[in-house]
Amino acid sequence: MDKNSKNSNRENKKLWGGRFSEETNKLVEEFNASIDVDKRLYDSDIEGSIAHLKMMANQSIITQDEAGTLIKGLGKVKEQIENSEMQFSASLEDIHMHIEDALGKVSGDVAKKLHTARSRNDQVALDVRIYLKKETKLVIDLLYGFQKSLVKMADSHLDVIMPGYTHLQRAQPVLFSHHLLAYYEMFKRDIQRFKECFKRIDVMPLGAAALAGTTYPLNREFTKEVLSFSKVSDNSIDSVSDRDFVIEFISHSSIAMIHFSRLCEELILWSSSEFSFITISDAFTTGSSIMPQKKNPDVAELVRGKTGRVVGNLVSILTLMKSLPLAYNKDMQEDKEPLFDTVDTLKICTEVYTRMFENIKVHKKRMYKACSTGFLNATDLADYLVSKGMAFRQAHGVAGQAVAFALKLGKELDDLSIEEFQSLSDLIGQDVYEFLTIEKMISRRISYGGTGFDSVKQAVQKAMKELDLK
Ligand code: ARG
Repeated sequence: MDKNSKNSNRENKKLWGGRFSEETNKLVEEFNASIDVDKRLYDSDIEGSIAHLKMMANQSIITQDEAGTLIKGLGKVKEQIENSEMQFSASLEDIHMHIEDALGKVSGDVAKKLHTARSRNDQVALDVRIYLKKETKLVIDLLYGFQKSLVKMADSHLDVIMPGYTHLQRAQPVLFSHHLLAYYEMFKRDIQRFKECFKRIDVMPLGAAALAGTTYPLNREFTKEVLSFSKVSDNSIDSVSDRDFVIEFISHSSIAMIHFSRLCEELILWSSSEFSFITISDAFTTGSSIMPQKKNPDVAELVRGKTGRVVGNLVSILTLMKSLPLAYNKDMQEDKEPLFDTVDTLKICTEVYTRMFENIKVHKKRMYKACSTGFLNATDLADYLVSKGMAFRQAHGVAGQAVAFALKLGKELDDLSIEEFQSLSDLIGQDVYEFLTIEKMISRRISYGGTGFDSVKQAVQKAMKELDLK
């Protein structure tokens, strides 16, 4: 009898069933299973197994023939999954055991060698890392795509002036492009964070086995090379218990979602009748079932809303990990739902948001008009007085009096007559009107990083270069 099939009378038992005499309680089986969630790791799992087999054959832990048979078998299992031919069942717990079980059916008893020198603990850590490396690259590409839309919009609207706000009160005029480039900076940091965390995802844990390493003469560098990882993990206990890279990914995603959410809030405000700064295209809005006039900014609202679930995922993963003793604990099986949900949410939000954003119409005149009321030139009146020799703190006081005076008269600052101005300070001359025009206010903001026409033009050029747009 083949030494591998001696226990064939026990074949219907779990892959780990050797020491068990009772069957698993059905409810526990359902409860314990993660297959509904982790089946999406199937291709990473197969990729990892193939590398493991190649390494084992290279190290003569198994023969080249055995490896060849199993690699072919894994190819068939992959096809089965992709053709929806695999029956998923709670009794096989997770994707790792489904694949191993299916391989047994395809390749026979030799499949029992696949799990040599490996544990599901290092296997799952590897699978998640393979998966997340690919997804992080996709996320970075999508974020670049959105940045391109932002910068193109900034480039084609360099002459649009809008009120800049603090406390959501009109503060000082700024270029619309300058406002957009503030988001460019935020997403630039997001991309940097994802690139940075990619380095820590890109570490190959296989070979840690359950937690202590293995007695087989592995060549972990070989596996690392086959799987195109940058480095091998240094500590077997850490290899199977580390989920920092998941926490980091979700944390960076939360920040990126918060950036989207802030821009959502602005687009929602700007598209309201109260602002009327922009119109979101019909294709990216929805109507109301009762109010025929309504055009709702649902995409922006939903992206803002979905920020909540990503931040929730961050809280889940942090809470999940906070008290876990080393090394692997089954709690960690719960890492996948928040991770997958975060990946899915961030990707779809970035995609749909980019398209919606590319289709907004900007109402230049409305934005400009909004700059002419609300005393956006009060700081500039103070600056004017400083240019005439007054100290800034004193000039601030005079400009404040001018605002109060104008309010009493129901006027804007630039509507005050020269006599009215001079009743406040005899330093004020005719040139004050020119000084207080919206265009002059913008063009005087020459400090690096400010909203001056030239600096913004240069900032747009710089961003275009960074994105290979020119
Ligand atoms: N499904 C498990 C997970 O996702 C795989 C690892 C199981 N390891 C174990 N020792 N039970 O975490």
